[in-house]
Amino acid sequence: MDLTISELSQYDRYKFLSALVIPRPVAFITTRNKEGLHNAAPFSFFNLFSEDPALVVLGFSHKPTGQSKDTINNIRSTGKFVVNMVDKNIIGAMHIASANFPDDVSEIDFAGIDLSPSQHIDVKRITQSPVSLECKVFEIKDLSERRALVLGEVLGIHIDDRIFDPATRRIIPEEYSPIARLFGNEYAWLGKRYTKKIPTLDEIKEHGLKAGDVPSD
Ligand SMILES: Cc1cc2nc3c(=O)[nH]c(=O)nc-3n(C[C@H](O)[C@H](O)[C@H](O)COP(=O)(O)O)c2cc1C
Repeated sequence: MDLTISELSQYDRYKFLSALVIPRPVAFITTRNKEGLHNAAPFSFFNLFSEDPALVVLGFSHKPTGQSKDTINNIRSTGKFVVNMVDKNIIGAMHIASANFPDDVSEIDFAGIDLSPSQHIDVKRITQSPVSLECKVFEIKDLSERRALVLGEVLGIHIDDRIFDPATRRIIPEEYSPIARLFGNEYAWLGKRYTKKIPTLDEIKEHGLKAGDVPSD
């Protein structure tokens, strides 16, 4: 089947695109409003974009009521936010925080999570999260009346000791398992991993490496 975006309704575009470009990581974002109240909500139009500058990218839509979401409102007013990655420790909290809370009620009280100070910004991170990225706004681009793109520059990274190997100064892959958003209400955990280095031209030409030589599990 072939589809042309301009012939699809906004709803169908969302349904097809979000079901096809999967899995997406989930950013459980903490922000702070002008009064100092912290807010937490999940966003899966999210990914890492580059390392120099260190940028993450996020896509925001409006609430069903047509108002903009508390997270982007807070990002616009303070210019700061924390991306907390989601693993089994905080998956239940993430689901609670995705409900449509009024802007003067903090999801954090209901979600059973704790906040800890960040190193570089005055927005707190989620203590139970395996990884938190402290970000300041690099650029906000309003794409339409309903959609905004936020580029965030990562200023600091907090890594939980349980997933960090001090000897190698690297993540312990078996200990880090962030949730994957699929589509609608569907999610997945990372499956079995495999290792495969990028082949050299010599391996392809001289040793006959073929596309059918798939990695064994
Ligand atoms: C896993 C998951 C991913 C989501 N991703 C997005 C997203 O990328 N963009 C968006 O605007 N809303 C997304 N939402 C919806 C928001 O989390 C939801 O509207 C939330 O109530 C916003 O809270 P806030 O008003 O406190 O910012 C997602 C929800 C879930 C459960």
